[in-house]
Amino acid sequence: MIVLVGYVSIEGQTRKIAEAIAAEIEKHGHRALLFNVGEMVEYGVDHPQAAILCAPVHAGRYPDPFVGFVRREADWLKSIPTAFVSVSLLIRSELEEERQEAQDFAGSLFAETHWRPGMVHHAAGALRYSEYDFFKRWMMRRMAARERASIDVSQDHQFTDWTALATFTTEFLKAAVQ
Ligand SMILES: Cc1cc2nc3c(=O)[nH]c(=O)nc-3n(C[C@H](O)[C@H](O)[C@H](O)COP(=O)(O)O)c2cc1C
Repeated sequence: MIVLVGYVSIEGQTRKIAEAIAAEIEKHGHRALLFNVGEMVEYGVDHPQAAILCAPVHAGRYPDPFVGFVRREADWLKSIPTAFVSVSLLIRSELEEERQEAQDFAGSLFAETHWRPGMVHHAAGALRYSEYDFFKRWMMRRMAARERASIDVSQDHQFTDWTALATFTTEFLKAAVQ
């Protein structure tokens, strides 16, 4: 089976997540087409039979190029097995309402694009404090203060659970080949 692994990444963590998914797909003997869907002009050359799309939450929404891709391709996406991996920091919050907020980002995307993936996974992203400019540092400090969870914004952290991601990918492949 050929599986499109489409992603958009601003800071690089979602790209890493997409790469890990692609590696897992190939480990299972399938072919992964890894693409930045914000940049790709032609995606359909190899006729993917399934797709896993990955996008990060930045300032309460997914990047516009990602939403644009889903909007444009909604009809095609509806015709094959698909999954969505949402990358955020709020999903690791200790507060139930904030974890819910992280899940609601995905709900809003589905309502906006009319795309309903068969499976959804929420992955915690990364905090690359040392690489942020002044504005991003300020935003992240605000988010951490609001979150009240244990985010130390003076250091870089990678929160992604790679084992959970591999399990999700395996489950998706099992369901998609049926
Ligand atoms: C400027 C900025 C804004 C962010 N806004 C949110 C947000 O609103 N909600 C959230 O849960 N995470 C937010 N995050 C955390 C990102 O989702 C997380 O850092 C993720 O790993 C970014 O993925 P990327 O490296 O692929 O861009 C934000 C991160 C940055 C740098």
